[in-house]
Amino acid sequence: MHVAITGVSSGIGLEQARVFLENGHVVFGLDLRESMEIKELMNEFSKSFTFICGDVTKRKTLHEHLVPVIEKRLDVLCNTAGQLDGYQSLEETTGESWDHILAVNLTGTFNVTSVCLKYLLQNKASRIINITSIAGLTSGGGGIAYTSAKHGLVGFTKQLAHDYSTKGLRVNGIAPGAIATPMNQKDFQEERPLAKWVQEQVPTKRWATAKEVAQLTYYLASNSADYIQGAIIPIDGGWLIK
Ligand SMILES: NC(=O)c1ccc[n+]([C@@H]2O[C@H](COP(=O)([O-])OP(=O)(O)OC[C@H]3O[C@@H](n4cnc5c(N)ncnc54)[C@H](O)[C@@H]3O)[C@@H](O)[C@H]2O)c1
Repeated sequence: MHVAITGVSSGIGLEQARVFLENGHVVFGLDLRESMEIKELMNEFSKSFTFICGDVTKRKTLHEHLVPVIEKRLDVLCNTAGQLDGYQSLEETTGESWDHILAVNLTGTFNVTSVCLKYLLQNKASRIINITSIAGLTSGGGGIAYTSAKHGLVGFTKQLAHDYSTKGLRVNGIAPGAIATPMNQKDFQEERPLAKWVQEQVPTKRWATAKEVAQLTYYLASNSADYIQGAIIPIDGGWLIK
């Protein structure tokens, strides 16, 4: 498979790239910045991994940077880039912060998907996997802007799946709960209130790893998941059943 992943330099995107590369697939990874881990991946998989420096909020440059690498073949798109909003309430959220969080988490997925759709539809079978969040399904997983953006992404996923079901495109979302990644590194360290809270409140009493989310992504990209369409699959240790 030829796979494009946004937010590839860290956390969940990085592990998604690793799982596809380790299974012999070709990965095009896009991010704002090139991390140490990405440099290692480029060395290890020099033939099958391409890094693209880009911003999902910049529609024009996305077109220029993405199309040359995906135009020959694209089977899977993972929209993973995202940013938290510091759990800010409406009173604490400025217009600039609202615009930014919506741009990264929601409009960014629209931008990248718009660029990639034509190439995905050239295949008989193609996949899009959007990383939403439990904040896309309930309150309390972020602040007002993040929760709104992730709810929007859930709607985007369902409508896209509805519109392209007969064209071989499978579109699904993953809704992670508490995943230990650099995004929330401070939060899951020992004595932090959120670390304690997760330990106490999540039914399975632990954070998950980014690799666990990557493995679910890999399954959704496989033919075994062909009858899963427009689903939002939580990976949250039971957070949503409470
Ligand atoms: N970690 C969690 O607990 C958790 C829970 C639910 C959902 N998520 C979602 O998972 C996704 C990945 O998060 P993570 O935890 O791996 O975070 P992370 O901060 O480790 O990685 C996010 C990556 O996205 C990149 N990025 C941010 N803005 C970008 C932009 N405008 N253009 C291109 N790249 C950009 C960052 O540079 C970073 O490399 C996000 O969409 C996040 O909302 C994470």
